[in-house]
Amino acid sequence: MAEILAVGEALEQALALLEGGDVVAIPTETVYGLAGDATNGVAVARIFEAKGRPRFNPLIAHVADRAMADRIAVFDPLSARLAGAFWPGPLTLVLPHRADSGIHPLVTAGLDTIALRMPRGFGGELIARLGRPLAAPSANSSGRISGTTAGAVAADLGDRIRLVVDGGATPVGLESTILKVEHGELRLLRPGGIGAEEIEAVAGAKLLRGAAGIEAPGMLASHYAPGALMRLNVEKVAGGEALLAFGRSRAEGWQDAAAIRNLSETGDLREAASNLFAFMQALDRVGAATIAVEPIPFEGLGEAINDRLARAAAPRDKIV
Ligand code: TXA
Ligand code: MG
Repeated sequence: MAEILAVGEALEQALALLEGGDVVAIPTETVYGLAGDATNGVAVARIFEAKGRPRFNPLIAHVADRAMADRIAVFDPLSARLAGAFWPGPLTLVLPHRADSGIHPLVTAGLDTIALRMPRGFGGELIARLGRPLAAPSANSSGRISGTTAGAVAADLGDRIRLVVDGGATPVGLESTILKVEHGELRLLRPGGIGAEEIEAVAGAKLLRGAAGIEAPGMLASHYAPGALMRLNVEKVAGGEALLAFGRSRAEGWQDAAAIRNLSETGDLREAASNLFAFMQALDRVGAATIAVEPIPFEGLGEAINDRLARAAAPRDKIV
C-alpha cells in the first residue's frame, strides 16, 4: 500500500521517487495529480500503467514558472496574457511545442502541441526543486472519479503507487480549464476550475466552444463514472435513489432518498465544484443503484460541473 505523507514532510521523499523515475500522487489546487518526470519515458509510462489508461492520451506538463514554460512551448500574446492573469492556478494552455523541449514524446502522444499548467502550492514547489516539468493526469483509475482527497487517491491507486502526498481536500475540486488559441481566437477545450466569464473578461473576447482539433479524454463520452447510474436534472426523486442536491429547495420525493448530499446549501457554485467528486463517491458508497442529481445552473463553474455530471451519466459502454 502507498504511504501517505503530509505536504510538510513529503518533499524529500517525493523528490527521491521522481528522480528515480517513479510516480507520486500530489495535491494541486484542482484535483490530486499522478505525477512523473515529464522528461523520463519510463516515468510517463508508469503513469499510464498505474491509471490503467486504455490509450496513450496526451498529458498536461506542469511547470514551476514562466521561464520553464517558455523552454517548452511558444506563447502567442493572448496565451501570455492569460498565463499572466491566471498562473499559478487552474488554467491549462495548449501551445505549440518546441522540438528541443526535452519532454518525452509519450507526454504529448505525438502531437505538435503541448498542454501546460502552473499549479499552486506543493506541486509548484516540487517542480521547482526537481528542476524539470511533471506530467500529471488526475490521480484516479481510468474512467473513474478524480481524487480530491489523499484518502480517495489511496483507496483507488494505493496498491499501484508508493506515495500519496496529503495536502487535504483540494480547494477547487475539479480539473483545470483547458484553452487553446487558434488563429487568434480562443477555444474552450475543457470547462474547468476557472469560469468562462472570468477568462473572457481578461481576453476581451468570447470563448469558442465545441470540438476542434484533438479530442481530450476528459472528452470521452463516459468518464468520471461512479459505480451507480446517474440521473440528471431530476425534479422528482424515486424511492431508494441517492440524491445529489444543490441549493435550498429540494426535488419532490427527496424524503424517500436513500441518502442525500447537498453540493451547496446556499447555491454557491464554487463550493459545489469543490464538493462534486467527493460527494459523488460518498453517494456511490451508499450502494443505491442510481444517483439522482438536481439541476445545476450553467453559469460560472456550473458549466464545468454540468460537463462532469454529463460524462458521469453517459452510457458505460462508451468507455473505450
Ligand atoms: O486540473 C488538472 O488539469 C489536473 C491536475 C492534476 O493538473 N490534470 C488533469 O489531467 O486533469 P488529465 O490527464 O486528467 O486531463 C488532461 C486533459 C486531457 O483531456 C487531455 O486530452 C488534454 O488535457 N490534453 C493534453 N494535451 C493536449 C493537447 N496537446 N491538445 C489538446 N488537449 C490536450
Ligand atoms: Mg482525468
